[in-house]
Amino acid sequence: MKREYYRKLLSVLKRYLWWFVGGIVAVIVFDGATLLIPWILKIAIEALKDIDNAQHSIFYYALLIMSLAIGGFVFRIVSRLFLFGAARYIEYDLREELFERLLKLSPSSLIKFRTGDLISRASNDLNTIKMFIGFGFLTIISTGFTYIVALFAMLKLSLTLTFYSFIPLPFIIIVVKKVTPKMYLISKETQERLGEISSMVQESVSGVQTVKAFVQEDAGDRRFYDISRHYYNARIRMVKYMGLIFPLMGMLGGIGTLIVLWKGGEMVINKEITLGDFVAFNSYLGMLIWPSIALGWIFTLIQRGLSSFERVCDVLTAPILEESTESSCDEKLSGDIEVKNLSFSYDSRNENGNTQKVLKDINLTIEEGETLAIVGPTGSGKTTFAKLLTRLLEVPPDTIFIGGKDISKLSFDSLRKTIGYVPQEGFIFHNTIRENVAYGLEGDASKNDDLLKRALKLSDFMKEVELFPKKLETEVGERGITLSGGQRQRLTIARMLVCDPEIIVLDDSLSSVDTHTEKNILSNIKDILEKKTSIIITHRISPLKYADRIAVIEDGRITEIGTHNELMAKGESYFRLYNRQAIFEEMEEL
Ligand SMILES: Nc1ncnc2c1ncn2[C@@H]1O[C@H](COP(=O)(O)OP(=O)(O)OP(=O)(O)O)[C@@H](O)[C@H]1O
Ligand SMILES: [Mg+2]
Repeated sequence: MKREYYRKLLSVLKRYLWWFVGGIVAVIVFDGATLLIPWILKIAIEALKDIDNAQHSIFYYALLIMSLAIGGFVFRIVSRLFLFGAARYIEYDLREELFERLLKLSPSSLIKFRTGDLISRASNDLNTIKMFIGFGFLTIISTGFTYIVALFAMLKLSLTLTFYSFIPLPFIIIVVKKVTPKMYLISKETQERLGEISSMVQESVSGVQTVKAFVQEDAGDRRFYDISRHYYNARIRMVKYMGLIFPLMGMLGGIGTLIVLWKGGEMVINKEITLGDFVAFNSYLGMLIWPSIALGWIFTLIQRGLSSFERVCDVLTAPILEESTESSCDEKLSGDIEVKNLSFSYDSRNENGNTQKVLKDINLTIEEGETLAIVGPTGSGKTTFAKLLTRLLEVPPDTIFIGGKDISKLSFDSLRKTIGYVPQEGFIFHNTIRENVAYGLEGDASKNDDLLKRALKLSDFMKEVELFPKKLETEVGERGITLSGGQRQRLTIARMLVCDPEIIVLDDSLSSVDTHTEKNILSNIKDILEKKTSIIITHRISPLKYADRIAVIEDGRITEIGTHNELMAKGESYFRLYNRQAIFEEMEEL
């Protein structure tokens, strides 16, 4: 694990320092009480020699032992409350931090982690960390303390016997040393395999329609079988090691007891030690056996915990879209856009090893209030351009300026307030229509029915919403009403409209509605489009009517730009694109 991760671990633990202190004190009191019992037993046994007072003293010692047991019991509970409580809080904090980070991850980091893997890190790994901190801490302190005190007591009872009882110790050390590094690797592997499983389950459930449509259930099943098998194998390897280490430690511990019985018995007969010493010694030795066995388990717990912590830290330290502090005006910016020498690649390299540029040397000025349509073949880079404008992708510095400001240095807040983006594939949250439309609003604005209804009317969706059983409160998305593609698009347009941005970017946002509805919506929002700066990416021709200028993007370059008439007169790409689409749409109307 990296050094900075250890620092992170320390800082996480430090936050609950007093919980740990309380827990440790309670553990020590509990273990101390338990460790006293054999010593009292020894005194009690020795007191039996004095036959006259035996009855009285036995009663007295029994009472003492019982009080210690009850007191220990209370502290045992307290210790768990503190230590497990701290572990729960830490798990909670890390989960919060992880989730916050997830939402801020930069696009490249999001591509690096698969969805299911992220889910696994946020669930399984956090669980392992909680175990590691709660149980791990408890066991380490408890066994450590017990080990030291019991050893001390044993040495005090009989040096010789202690020496004999430790004959199996070197073997224990060898076993631990051999097995633990392997455990770490296997444990890391099992966590990774589990991540793969989550990924695949998540993907298959999301894409279950596609799986069925292509009758790929069996193939999916086979793939899953392979992945699941890998996980199983890794787990089995883990079980084998655990299965080996536990009985081995138990056996070595047992051998120790055997030696003590044989040698200790002899020493009692020879009167080298008292019977009380012998009984107490055996009790202490018994107390050491469990920690010795647990040693292996503790090591795996630590190893697993550390590897999980590492996986969580990987996400916590993955790059996010940095918010620049240089210019953080929270005001809306004016709507003029300037693009200078913008090139962009998703960092995929072609066979020659060169990076494949998706956008190449884009230069463009859009005046405030202007409406620019962008057309071009599929895959030419239109969506990429729109995402760069809204900084959903990492923007190279000094390439895009809005209201005269370099957007790579702007705060997200002011950028988001300025630009309203309707993506090609709008996402609907599982929530009411109201919450979905009001998603970008702050405070109580979601209760402003007029605002929401106006936006829904403009996007030509209100009529259908009125027909839903609970109107604005109708649940949509998973488990709610499933919206059609066109309905989703209109809902996402309304979501953008309620925010009243200065710049509107529509990325093929009307592709799923029929041409008639498209015309309705466009004429509804005509006034808005005229007032605001708008960029309309489209494959259809009806929006072109509202555009002041049209840009044609082909293979990542702007190849033509001008008014409809200018471009038609040129008779090149736009002319061809327009005519071809016009024929399609005429046929559609028939
Ligand atoms: N996340 C990504 N990682 C790598 N390549 C990508 C990614 N997203 C898009 N691309 C590639 O970038 C190119 C441009 O894609 P883009 O989505 O911008 O096209 P588009 O013009 O919007 O197409 P359409 O008209 O089909 O919506 C395509 O070749 C696409 O494969
Ligand atoms: Mg696109």
